[in-house]
Amino acid sequence: MEDNPFREADLSIRNHPESCILVIFGATGDLTHRKLVPALYNLAADGDLPAGLRVVGFARREKTDEEFRQGLEELNREVSRQGHNEDLWAQFSQSIVYHTSEFGDHEGYLALKKRLDAMEKEGASPNRLFYLASAPEFFDDILLHLRQSGLNRSKNGWCRAVVEKPFGTDLATAQHLNQVVADTFAEAHTYRIDHYLGKETAQNIMVLRFANQLFEVLWNNRFIDHVQITCAEHLGMEGGRGGYYDKSGALRDMVQNHLLQLLSLVAMEPPADLSADGVRDEKVKVLKSLRPFRSVEDVAANVVRAQYTAGTVNGVEVPGYRREDRVNPGSMTESYVALKIMIDNWRWEGVPFYMRMGKRLPRKGTEISIHFKQAPKVLFNAAAGAEEMPGNVLVIRIQPNEGISLGMRSKRPGPAATLQPVKMDFLYQTSFGKSSPEAYERLLLDAMAGDATLFARKDEVETAWRYVDQIEDAWHKSPSPPKMAEYPAGSWGPKEADELLQGDGHEWRRL
Ligand code: BG6
Repeated sequence: MEDNPFREADLSIRNHPESCILVIFGATGDLTHRKLVPALYNLAADGDLPAGLRVVGFARREKTDEEFRQGLEELNREVSRQGHNEDLWAQFSQSIVYHTSEFGDHEGYLALKKRLDAMEKEGASPNRLFYLASAPEFFDDILLHLRQSGLNRSKNGWCRAVVEKPFGTDLATAQHLNQVVADTFAEAHTYRIDHYLGKETAQNIMVLRFANQLFEVLWNNRFIDHVQITCAEHLGMEGGRGGYYDKSGALRDMVQNHLLQLLSLVAMEPPADLSADGVRDEKVKVLKSLRPFRSVEDVAANVVRAQYTAGTVNGVEVPGYRREDRVNPGSMTESYVALKIMIDNWRWEGVPFYMRMGKRLPRKGTEISIHFKQAPKVLFNAAAGAEEMPGNVLVIRIQPNEGISLGMRSKRPGPAATLQPVKMDFLYQTSFGKSSPEAYERLLLDAMAGDATLFARKDEVETAWRYVDQIEDAWHKSPSPPKMAEYPAGSWGPKEADELLQGDGHEWRRL
């Protein structure tokens, strides 16, 4: 086939990030200190930050520029993957200033506008990137005031908005937020963050599938038996996180966004091109094909929700979920969820996708495993050891030890026909000799480049909520809701989650 010159053939052919003034709402929060500013610093250390980039932190607390920078520096010292270099920080931090205002105070936005205009007169870029990193209850106010003060328009450059998660708490609130965003910024200038899409290994799923002939021909229900997606975390509700989490729960916090995004990347059809809409069209098609639940019983049969009880994680005794700081002692919020998802389309008919995520599991790790069907049961299946061995398993390790491994059967050296499982392993660290950039580094650059491929589109977010809402409704609105299971902190989850797979003759892969 002839090359189509209008197609982007290479992932590296992307727009270049353009300099801008980045305004971060919620600048005194954790996200700004632990993720956003360290990401900018890492980019600066690699020489990847567009020249002349300026950062304005917007928040309610009174602070001077210097106090703000000091707080950022403390955290950067702790978390930057590049290590903290005093000289570089001194230079980089000069681009950061602080703006005090309530989120609902119109005067504060007018003052911000004056400040940005003055910065522009002094040579700063006319492009503006507004990053909504505050608590979500302020998003409406921030967007309204950006619109009313005219900050959503720049005479000489572009204006874009990055919206952090959670994007709504159900379909209705997501639709409302989409409307408020649309009143202020065009869809093409709206970047809904899902930081899992910025992870190197998540980006590699499409490359693995569509740049290698080997896998894609087998990537369907003729050869794949089932797929597992696991996202385990050893952390619980440290640092007052219970306040947010207890209102959200595992399903809304991780499944609606990160895990359904990973599922879409694994299950999507090859896109027509690598444009943002080309890719997102295919992901939405997957989400639209998820088999809906027919009843509360159907939810109970396919979704397990659970809370951790007291236990030991990494040798440390920890309390149960309901005893955590800022968690309601009678809480019915799940800290763990496991699902069996069916995708009703031609490629995946009959292939279950099992997903689980939980807090206070033995360790942190996210992986996708593709379990291929067994080879025909002739010849070597009678050999010693073959019976207990799994079929081929392709494991995509999203984090840590980023990489991909393929489990196979091999003959053990010697005269007997004894089989043994072996692994081909690709590790990012060994192959590329350096740690992968943080997700936020890539996402910030993409927003500056105007590339929305790794951000969720309006319909993507809403379709995912539509799916998740069916489960939330069965749990919280039904007169006879499915039960809440339990698992001790430090274990791999409740027995009900094991039974979910055992019913189909499968078991969870050990991480
Ligand atoms: C966030 C969730 O979106 O992702 C947290 O709100 C979770 O609850 C976090 O801990 C996990 O992200 P990562 O990148 O550490 O896997």
